[in-house]
Amino acid sequence: MEVSQEPNSLDAQFYQTADSFFAAYHGLALTYDDISLATLYSQILPRDTQLDVTLAEGLRLNIPIISADMDTVTESRMAIAMALNGGLGLIHYNMPEKEQLAEVSRVKKHVHGLIQEPATVTPDQLIGGILQTIEKHKFAFSTFPVVDKAGKLAGLLPGYVVKPRYAKRKVVEVMTPRRQLQTIKKKDLAADPISQADKFFSERPGIHMLLVVDEDDRLHGLFTLSDVEKIIQERNAQFKPARDANFRLICGAAVSATRNAFGDLDRERILQHVGAMVERGLDVVAVSTAHGFSKGVGDAVRMIRDAYPKLPIMAGNVTSAAGVEFLAECGANAVKVGQGPGSICTTRIVAGVGIPQLTALYVCSCAARKKKVAIIADGGITKSGDIVKALTLAHAVISGGLFAGSAEAPGQIMEIGGKLYKQYRGMGSFAAMRAGSAARYGHTAAAMQKVAPEGVEALKELSGSLDRILGQLIGGIQSGMGYLGAANLEQLRQRARYVRVSPAGMREAAPHDVYEVKAES
Ligand code: XMP
Repeated sequence: MEVSQEPNSLDAQFYQTADSFFAAYHGLALTYDDISLATLYSQILPRDTQLDVTLAEGLRLNIPIISADMDTVTESRMAIAMALNGGLGLIHYNMPEKEQLAEVSRVKKHVHGLIQEPATVTPDQLIGGILQTIEKHKFAFSTFPVVDKAGKLAGLLPGYVVKPRYAKRKVVEVMTPRRQLQTIKKKDLAADPISQADKFFSERPGIHMLLVVDEDDRLHGLFTLSDVEKIIQERNAQFKPARDANFRLICGAAVSATRNAFGDLDRERILQHVGAMVERGLDVVAVSTAHGFSKGVGDAVRMIRDAYPKLPIMAGNVTSAAGVEFLAECGANAVKVGQGPGSICTTRIVAGVGIPQLTALYVCSCAARKKKVAIIADGGITKSGDIVKALTLAHAVISGGLFAGSAEAPGQIMEIGGKLYKQYRGMGSFAAMRAGSAARYGHTAAAMQKVAPEGVEALKELSGSLDRILGQLIGGIQSGMGYLGAANLEQLRQRARYVRVSPAGMREAAPHDVYEVKAES
């Protein structure tokens, strides 16, 4: 049966388009939980929805999700996992520039399935010491390549000898020696290394690790049978990895508007560093600060735009139409929106500024349409429903909190009261600013004693692999799109109808009047 797609006048009175809804609430700033989206007639199955988005020429994501440039969220391991899932990771800048370059290189050189810097042991180590290392780092594996002091492959320590009963033995006594190991030369890895590794494992039953060496027999990485099997299965996945024109994973990195000793923008240093990252294949640079509608950020964006006319630039953060227009005019392709919504942020408490996120997104989206730039909803997202709401106004979302507890986030795992946690801290927290991010908040590292932190240091409960987390989030976004009859993100933005939710309505939205025995599978 054909169903009328004409707006129903009664529905339109209660469930309003963005323009009508936000205009009606112009005196009240709203955020995710303040609203709900109305369902519409749909012929779209969630699994058929498309989530790809182009944020700038040459910067296309297959899912609209970006991991935050925070020192407890995105380094190369996270950026690789994000890109493999179709998203993007922004490598943070709380590290020496040389290290940030190396992190970008790790992402761009990543061969799917090749563990490039595997944990190794040395021939003279004791098994007891290795057991302690496994316990300390919570490694889920116990087979290690053995390398000598010169980095050359000396053998393989099989997991079945890494047992307390052999604690006093040296690795060299129990390892499989080099001469018995099957390896592949790095230069012999073809365009499709996974198929090559797959063939290798099929031809050698019982072997579950393929070691990669260079001409001098130095270890350059390894493939494991379980990874290769997983990748072969994933080849049919709906959301493909996000890659550049040369089939490399995409990677972003953040920079700050660093100042020199005279208080001026450190032009030479910023340009040199961005240039070095571009040489390594960087796909997008993010000029990340707490206050993007400022001279320093504008100058930095303009300078990078002039030097690299084709490089996609993200800049922020802002919460006003004027801020979006300003950064767009300076040359940004995508503008980050969000001041104070983050789970570790205290900007609104400390500085008394910032706008609840949904109102900020609406205001910024109007300016972004005019200026033909993308906007990215940054911070405050705690569940997939928030992402659906954000994507009715923005082109993509950035999150730190959702990913900080994942296996791919940097940082030590700690155990408290029988539960496992990872550190998650605001880039404006005292500890993070001392480690280098002060410029993001307009402070110099030298004057740190007088600075009021705008973020907290916190913990996130361990939340498993990024694949699993993103799988849940993508499922939620696709459900939301199915309810709105949106086949793609453009249609989601057009079809959204909003309604204000009362505190009682919010209570109704979560499980209630039941004893919950299982929150998720
Ligand atoms: P979520 O909600 O994902 O937010 O934890 C991550 C975003 O928060 C911003 N950010 C901060 N904002 N003080 C702030 O006011 C801070 O210390 C801070 N650290 C990060 C940032 O935009 C990030 O993407």
